[in-house]
Amino acid sequence: MSNAYLDLLAHFGIGGAHPGGFSLTRFILQDENIKVNDSVLEIGCGTGQTAALLVEKYNCQVTAIDNHPIMVQKARQRFQKIKAPVKVLERDVQNLDFVDNSFDLIIAESVIVFTEISRTLKELSRVLKNDGHMIMIEMTAEQYLSVEKQKKACSLYGINEILDTDEWILRLHQAGFNQVEIISTPSELNQIEVNDINPSKQINMDLYDLWEEHNEFILHNRDFIGYRAFKCRNS
Ligand SMILES: C[S@@+](CC[C@H](N)C(=O)[O-])C[C@H]1O[C@@H](n2cnc3c(N)ncnc32)[C@H](O)[C@@H]1O
Repeated sequence: MSNAYLDLLAHFGIGGAHPGGFSLTRFILQDENIKVNDSVLEIGCGTGQTAALLVEKYNCQVTAIDNHPIMVQKARQRFQKIKAPVKVLERDVQNLDFVDNSFDLIIAESVIVFTEISRTLKELSRVLKNDGHMIMIEMTAEQYLSVEKQKKACSLYGINEILDTDEWILRLHQAGFNQVEIISTPSELNQIEVNDINPSKQINMDLYDLWEEHNEFILHNRDFIGYRAFKCRNS
């Protein structure tokens, strides 16, 4: 299903397109003990900035998937350019063709909210190894959102719902993630920082308008919409 906000990110080729940006990614990964033989799945990899970091920093076995063809193409370009041996696949995270218990680590940075959340979480719990874990950074409602605000946010991002932290934890438990912990993150890392871009040659003017609209929305809704980083295990 097409999503104008994701088209915008894909056409502008924005890397680190999640709250907290690449600085938050680096902050979270610094505490991870990832080994060379670990199999890591990054879902919704976008243009591949995090997957590239994983290979460069840990030399681990990275599979990166995204269902947007332009994202996949730009991620491939990035990996080829820096000779990073990442396996890139165009896949829908809601319906994965990996066998059960495939991955030691799964990383999702602002992805699951764009999908049918419960369905995706179940799929991720299935492909995660029993002794593996998942790190996810996702959008949260930080206080009561009026119906009007919810509608505006859902239409802008092309999403079905905005969960608060407790609702995320409940959905994670229901999907089979028995242990869920909130990762403490520095408060200054709240914005999407745009410092890694790979724009397409032709970008429709509508997408510039949408970018303006998005920035305006963020500016006025900082107190309402935030994010959480979670560390989740099956057992
Ligand atoms: C907000 S962007 C974040 C991209 C990347 N994680 C980052 O932080 O730069 C969301 C990404 O999830 C991808 N995505 C959304 N729904 C997906 C699905 N059902 N299957 C796979 N990827 C999906 C989008 O194409 C997009 O690249």
